[in-house]
Amino acid sequence: LRTVTVGLLGCGTVGQNVLHLLERRRDIFADIGVKIEVAGVLVRDAERVRDVPASTPLTDDPSFLQECGVVIEAMGGTVRPLSLLHPYLKSGRPVITANKALLAECWTELREYALAGKLYYEASVMAGTPVIGPMSTVLRASRFESLQAVLNGTCNYILTQMEEGKEYAQALEEAQALGYAEDPPTLDVGGFDTAHKLAVLARFCADGDFAYDQVKVQGIEGVTLKDVQDAAEAGEKYKLIAELKPGEGGVGWEATVSPQRLPSTHPICTIGAGRNTLVFRGEECGELYFAGGGAGGMVTASAMVGDLLDIVIGFPGHVPLH
Ligand code: NDP
Ligand code: HSE
Repeated sequence: LRTVTVGLLGCGTVGQNVLHLLERRRDIFADIGVKIEVAGVLVRDAERVRDVPASTPLTDDPSFLQECGVVIEAMGGTVRPLSLLHPYLKSGRPVITANKALLAECWTELREYALAGKLYYEASVMAGTPVIGPMSTVLRASRFESLQAVLNGTCNYILTQMEEGKEYAQALEEAQALGYAEDPPTLDVGGFDTAHKLAVLARFCADGDFAYDQVKVQGIEGVTLKDVQDAAEAGEKYKLIAELKPGEGGVGWEATVSPQRLPSTHPICTIGAGRNTLVFRGEECGELYFAGGGAGGMVTASAMVGDLLDIVIGFPGHVPLH
């Protein structure tokens, strides 16, 4: 077996599940002649008790990166991961990341590596529900018309719980306990996480250099229990909606994130049924629906380990529009 040495940055909700899934799927790597070896797992506190396989090499010293053939980033933030990943990418080695904030806000530094096929980031939008794969490949043959999506699991959970009569603060606490929320959760409820994801998607269908600050953002903090209940009485549901469509007169792009009332019969409410959902419209491919888990440790790990399989098989990463 050929050994592929992997370094993991972060061992929280996502990182711990990546380690478990690497153990669980040793067989599929062996089937293609590969043994995955984890050289180091970077954390802030290496003494903390975690749910990880025995003999996981936890450390607060990132020097193990030098010996890794692939790095998997699941730590979050922008400045620290960029400072660790940039030299690594510069050396020509591939990176897998779930970090949409990093991708959205540090695109100037990362784009050339994405264009070179060295960045793999299926997990960054809708976690384990594959949308980046199709949007970076087959869907590019269709002329993009628009997309409309629910991309944040935390807001989706909160709004769904409010439909059942739960208070906003209680629902947010539960979403945090489930491991869905960002640190800080303002990224979720303020709409910024959804905007990060929309910017990432826009680079596959609208503009390869789409800037995060082009997205107009409004979060769900102003949505009250009464608003949600009034909507329900009118046969509607509140959703935090990301939208991308051509700008006025077909010039440029209009990208927005805002809470909207949708009829309960809308595909986002029926097909989505409380999950992350993306409705993609292209001239030739028609209207397509993607729905599934968009947050949580194992569902996210499934996309990251899938990206690792792509790397060892020899598939390129997710290449934006040129
Ligand atoms: P957690 O907060 O659970 O885990 C973060 C991990 O990174 C922790 O182990 C932490 O160490 C480590 N870490 C953070 N900062 C540093 C630092 N400066 N130096 C060393 N280690 C550090 O986050 P998640 O696992 O939930 O999320 C990780 C990433 O995945 C984020 O980018 C998030 O947006 C993304 N993501 C998360 C999803 C989810 O459902 N949770 C879904 C899709 C993407 P320590 O434990 O010692 O504090
Ligand atoms: N905080 C994010 C969410 C995690 O709730 O959707 C998945 O990207």
